[in-house]
Amino acid sequence: MTDSSKDLETIERTFVAFKPDAVQRGIVGEILQRLERAGLKIVAMKMVKASNDLLHEHYSEHKGKDFFENLIDFMGDGPVIAGVLEGVKAVSVVRKLVGATEPYEAAAGTIRGDYAHVSVEHSNKKDKAVKNLIHASGNLEEAEKEIGLWFSDDEIYTYNRADKAHLM
Ligand code: RTP
Ligand code: MG
Repeated sequence: MTDSSKDLETIERTFVAFKPDAVQRGIVGEILQRLERAGLKIVAMKMVKASNDLLHEHYSEHKGKDFFENLIDFMGDGPVIAGVLEGVKAVSVVRKLVGATEPYEAAAGTIRGDYAHVSVEHSNKKDKAVKNLIHASGNLEEAEKEIGLWFSDDEIYTYNRADKAHLM
C-alpha cells in the first residue's frame, strides 16, 4: 500500500451515482467537476442501466416507505453513472457538496441547491420521485455496502493524483 493514498488513515472511499435526471439533463460533467476540484479522486466509474434487483438492494433501507416504488422506477428510468470517489473524509465531504435531500431547501452552492428546485411536496403530488440529481453514501458503512454492490474489486483503480503531495 506504500504507493497508494490509502496509507493515509483519514482517506475514505464513498459511492456516488449520477441519477437519470442528471444524465438526461447533460450536466454530469459539470457536477463531476465540482467533486474533482474539491480534491476527490475518481477510483471507479461506469454507466449502468440498473436492474430492479440492484436498486432494491441499493435502497433497501427505504423498503416499505411511501416513496420507495417511485424511487425505484425513477432510478431505473434510464442509465446512471456510478462511481467511487476517494479522499480525506470523502463520505461527509461529498454529502456536504451534494446538499440536502429536499432540493428546494438545499443550500445555494451545493449541487442540489444549484441545479434542482423541485420539492418533495410537488413530487409527491405528481406521484413521482424527487429528482435530486445525485446519490451519495450517507455514512462509511453505507459506502462499503454500496461500493461492493455496484463494483467488483478489479473495477476499482489505484493511482496517484498529481495533488497528492498536498496531503503529505
Ligand atoms: P440519496 O440516498 O439518493 O443520496 O438521497 P438522500 O440520502 O439525500 O435521501 P434518502 O433519505 O436516502 O432518500 C433517497 C432518495 O429517495 C427520494 N425521496 N423521496 N417523496 C419523498 O418523500 C422522498 N424522500 C426521499 C429522493 O430521491 C432521495 O434522494
Ligand atoms: Mg440516502
